[in-house]
Amino acid sequence: MCGIIGVVGSTEALATLLDGLERLEYRGYDSAGVALVRPGSTWRARSAAGTTSVAALREQCLAAPEGYFSGIGHTRWATHGAPEAVNAHPHLDCSGKVAIIHNGIIENHAVLREQLLTRGHVFTSATDSEVVAHLIEEQRRGGADLLESVRRTLGDIRGAFALAVVDASEPDVIVAARRISPLVVGTAPGVTYLASDVPAMWGRAENFYVVDDDEIVRLVPAGCSAIDLDGTPVRLRALQVDWDLETAQLDGFDDFMSKEIAEQPHAVRNTLLDRRREDGSITFDEIRISDDELRRVRRVVLVACGTSLHAAHIAKYAIERWARLSVEVEIASEYHYRDPLVEVGTLVIGISQSGETIDTIQATREAKRRGATVLAVCNVVDASLARDADAVLYTRAGLEVSVASTKAYVAQIAALEILALRLAQLRGTLTPFDIDEHLGALLAVPDLIATALRTAPAVRAVATELLGARDYFFIGRHLGFPTALEGALKLKEITYLHAEGYAAGELKHGPLALIEPGVVVVAVVTDELLHDKMMSNLAEVKARGASVVAVAREDDRRIDAVADFVLRVPSAHPMLAPMVDIIPLQLLAYELARGLGRNVDRPRNLAKTVTVE
Ligand code: F6R
Repeated sequence: MCGIIGVVGSTEALATLLDGLERLEYRGYDSAGVALVRPGSTWRARSAAGTTSVAALREQCLAAPEGYFSGIGHTRWATHGAPEAVNAHPHLDCSGKVAIIHNGIIENHAVLREQLLTRGHVFTSATDSEVVAHLIEEQRRGGADLLESVRRTLGDIRGAFALAVVDASEPDVIVAARRISPLVVGTAPGVTYLASDVPAMWGRAENFYVVDDDEIVRLVPAGCSAIDLDGTPVRLRALQVDWDLETAQLDGFDDFMSKEIAEQPHAVRNTLLDRRREDGSITFDEIRISDDELRRVRRVVLVACGTSLHAAHIAKYAIERWARLSVEVEIASEYHYRDPLVEVGTLVIGISQSGETIDTIQATREAKRRGATVLAVCNVVDASLARDADAVLYTRAGLEVSVASTKAYVAQIAALEILALRLAQLRGTLTPFDIDEHLGALLAVPDLIATALRTAPAVRAVATELLGARDYFFIGRHLGFPTALEGALKLKEITYLHAEGYAAGELKHGPLALIEPGVVVVAVVTDELLHDKMMSNLAEVKARGASVVAVAREDDRRIDAVADFVLRVPSAHPMLAPMVDIIPLQLLAYELARGLGRNVDRPRNLAKTVTVE
């Protein structure tokens, strides 16, 4: 999962590549590189400096010669080969004239490398990607032009890729191709661009086009043409872009994570906008599944990864409770390697912020292959998951840049809960009065989130007290459980501290053995009905010396007896409380990470969009 960018015909080619790479760093930042081409020569620079790779590359590029108008750039998240400069892209062929960048994995690289070595090629990296440069080199030597060379090479490689190739013998051309990994083309008068996503080209490209699977594009300064694997011309789909560069900037915040945490009321409000008609019915204009089809649903399977998986857990409670449908939550990376049952009436919902997570895409494809109707719940318009699916429900959280997902998560919960209400409406499992009441409560959530955000100073004070702690357990019951899972995930990914999320009732079945002085237990105690049970669980961990941080309702006084620190949130409808209760936990992770000097937006070893299995 890496970021790629390319430009042909620009007097500011190098600046375009470097600016684009900065915006693509969320996709990986182990190393970065660029290659520029002009007639007869290719100039390359690469750097592996962890989270500052692009900045270090920019320094190196001060020495770049003049007179290059075309080039490609790459920011890497290492899969094959250590995160070192030798493994950074672009990779060159033996002649040093062909340069390639690749996002994805070439699954048959080992066999291809063996064959290429026996044919005399010299490899300089440990990556899977370098085989592509040498395969294209062979085609070029055979006399094929760059487009045809790439087309033939695609017949040799298996796996996932967004590839871009330049050759100093055709310096005004970039050839790129895509299978699974994302690729977008941008155009402006006299300059053509490509990138893994639109923001990388913002401010320069004016029109955008999606490259679909197994399409090959040829970029020249005047524009772009495309063919399929057989060489038949195809038309690229124009992409409607409704985000702008401004949204991707910090607006005075220290980092994207704090900005995105603060944007959560807006994210939920936007997601819920225009969903209720005057007659009280719920509407999804974009969903593209008929009411009759939704009425025929007998079983729901939710597939997702990471934070999106936690949103799925929450949706399960809502769909079961309100629509009385049986729901299963599946880890996407496990689903498609099982032999999953897809009966008539199975609705599979793939949930993904990016819509490019390969595990989730594979799972929904597998489900579709077996006959399921697939609905994507996705934040990025026209992402692969959305395009593959029979229907899509967008979460309208806006661009999320920080690796740790926050606003997209609450927006996912809001979207899935309103979907649960729609299913209930169609199935008649709730009265119109109940639906109206729940909808009203849902529409009030943005204000409750705004109130919960005011816990920030209290959370900061707690984080200062806890700065020396190294082990955290997050516990909760019912909907407090997925909130605990998400709180633990946020903490571990940006602080690098050990954190586990548990159903509070499960603690006594093993993990209680780990509770001792120095361990912090963070408990979600907002559910009135389960309050007594949670109090007992907290008494158990207190008795064993743990420090207790409780997320509790504003009016909860009993909690003071067991908690060392209380973070108070406004009361929400129990089914909607996860969107409110998560706020202090996001803030806690954020404050601890800042206190420990971590890079909150770019945690080590992670990337925003995970396009490898
Ligand atoms: C955690 C986080 C990841 C993602 C996961 C799925 O903060 O961001 O766990 O939630 O990689 O990503 P999407 O939602 O893009 O499929």
